[in-house]
Amino acid sequence: MKFHIHTYGCQMNVRDSEAVEALLSAAGHVKASCEEDADLVIVNSCTVRQKAEEKAVGKAGYLCSTGKLTGLMGCAVKRLGADVFKRLPKLDFAVAPRGFGLIPKILAEGRFPRLELGDDLSAEALSSHAAGGFQAFVTVLVGCNNRCSYCIVPDVRGREYSRPAREIVAEVRSLAANGVKEVCLLGQSVLRYGVSNAVWDASDEPSPGGYTEAFPRLLEALSAIPGLGRIRFTSAHPGGCTDELVRAYAEFPKICRHIHLPVQSGSDRILADMGRRYTRAEYLAAVRRLRGFDPEFAVTTDVIVGYPGESEEDFEATRSLMDEAGFDNAFVFKYSPRPGTRSAAKPDDVPQEEKERRNSVLLEDQERRGLERNKALVGTVREVLAEGPSKRNASRLAGRDSGNRIVVWEPPAGSRVPVLGEKVRVRILEAHPQILAGEALADS
Ligand code: 5AD
Ligand code: SF4
Repeated sequence: MKFHIHTYGCQMNVRDSEAVEALLSAAGHVKASCEEDADLVIVNSCTVRQKAEEKAVGKAGYLCSTGKLTGLMGCAVKRLGADVFKRLPKLDFAVAPRGFGLIPKILAEGRFPRLELGDDLSAEALSSHAAGGFQAFVTVLVGCNNRCSYCIVPDVRGREYSRPAREIVAEVRSLAANGVKEVCLLGQSVLRYGVSNAVWDASDEPSPGGYTEAFPRLLEALSAIPGLGRIRFTSAHPGGCTDELVRAYAEFPKICRHIHLPVQSGSDRILADMGRRYTRAEYLAAVRRLRGFDPEFAVTTDVIVGYPGESEEDFEATRSLMDEAGFDNAFVFKYSPRPGTRSAAKPDDVPQEEKERRNSVLLEDQERRGLERNKALVGTVREVLAEGPSKRNASRLAGRDSGNRIVVWEPPAGSRVPVLGEKVRVRILEAHPQILAGEALADS
């Protein structure tokens, strides 16, 4: 069959779709050039907010009406359970986020409609399936044991399971040998790697730097892999910002100078209600420690506005925290009650217009802040990995620096175009809120 996959949601979904693509190709199916050309279309869904779920389910509904074989995978399937066929009566199959490894079998058996809510945590389903690029996602743990009051992810992605370190190291070594320069380690709460189950065993080589915590030790082992240039990871819970993590960042230059550290709120009262297990002061202390060894260290975040009971004072506390932390970038979300979560039992009492207002205030603040922070980088030279033509202006090239900042530059006339993944040194001439622009240095 010719297949096409539509992906909504976060990087875990992007990675899972890559894996399904590889599994389907291995089973003899062929990737279609576009949706219209496909006989089979799979929608990989998100359910973190109501709107995200509606988009994915809406798309699947449309596809069902085209007569193509249609499947739904991902987080919304687990939330909806058997109700998925009430919402989508013509859907052919649905698989939960940890069960996508079963899709080739479902297709081979051909009994529709079919619902699979179970897990397939086989090494094959978890291992990387990067399609020959210079960047690859690598799953290090799946699931989440945090119980943040607003979040549906633990219900849909299940309990934490960390992959054995040896398996990850071998996988990254083979990716690097095949030309991958940058890996992004993925987990819902990646700093909890190895906390709920053991990942290192006695037969593994001891940590040369004396690291005792599983994740910093993994970073140390990955840093030693020849050919690999950069290591990123996402997403981090502030609780995991330990001394060993900070030491690993400082000791291993391959670890990118960036952390995505969702804060969610700047009000201690709201943080406690959310069950985030840190205070505003502790969060800010973590940011200071990370910037302590490198003032250019980039910190990005997620924030929720309009959480139940969020007063004007709570909101202002979030605003001031964002200033104090000096975020390089921030994603702002309007609170959306998710069925079955603790906060869904509370009244969703911040009116929609007020959520919109708080959302735009924070975004405007962030534009200003992002511009200020980027202006401080004008005149510096950034080391960038070339990713291809800029989306806005195809005559420019684009890539990211170690801080995950987007950098665009004009290739000097008559110069050789860098191959993807090549290191380019760019002198920054212009700052924008979310982009740096500059010129490539002749020696790069
Ligand atoms: N409502 C709004 N935003 C949410 N997020 C998670 N759950 C909700 C919700 N119920 C946001 C958090 C998280 C990001 C991925 O989505 O900020 O970090
Ligand atoms: Fe969406 Fe969360 Fe699932 Fe990612 S893990 S796809 S953000 S619900």
